[in-house]
Amino acid sequence: MKEAKFEFQYKVYDSIDELPEEQQMLLNKAKEATDKAYAPYSKFKVGAIAKLANGETISGTNQENASFPVGLCAERVLLSSLSSLYPNVGIDTIAISYKSENQVSDHPVSPCGICRQSLQEFESRVNHPIQLVLGGLTGPVYVIKSAGCLLPLAFTSEELT
Ligand code: THU
Repeated sequence: MKEAKFEFQYKVYDSIDELPEEQQMLLNKAKEATDKAYAPYSKFKVGAIAKLANGETISGTNQENASFPVGLCAERVLLSSLSSLYPNVGIDTIAISYKSENQVSDHPVSPCGICRQSLQEFESRVNHPIQLVLGGLTGPVYVIKSAGCLLPLAFTSEELT
């Protein structure tokens, strides 16, 4: 028997003002995008902005439904439209922000488990790491080199070949 462990490093900035300029711009766009979310049930609006390897930017927001499980997270809305518009184009960075009506949005939130699975598969399908920039409306910002870091021991397409 041996013990195994996973570790990953990420950057923690005290505020958006400390980020490199492009990441600041993307996170600001993600904040703005929260206004386009449809989240009447949770009142938790999420905005995600991707900067693609081809230079384009594309956004996604969460889209809820009265039948709750029908709702989609911002990250998967983004990945679906991106994959339809530009199949096989890599994503350099996704910035994710949120605005909650029930609490102050003063810390980063991370993608949920289903979105981690989707992000991981997108990365490996186009063979391009996705850097994540996570921040609330205020407060610290996390920068994670590759979305796959958030899903150790992932179940992948390799099991199905
Ligand atoms: N949500 C996202 O859009 N992304 C996440 O990574 C976590 C949660 C949405 C789903 C739902 O509309 C609302 O936030 C509350 O869970």
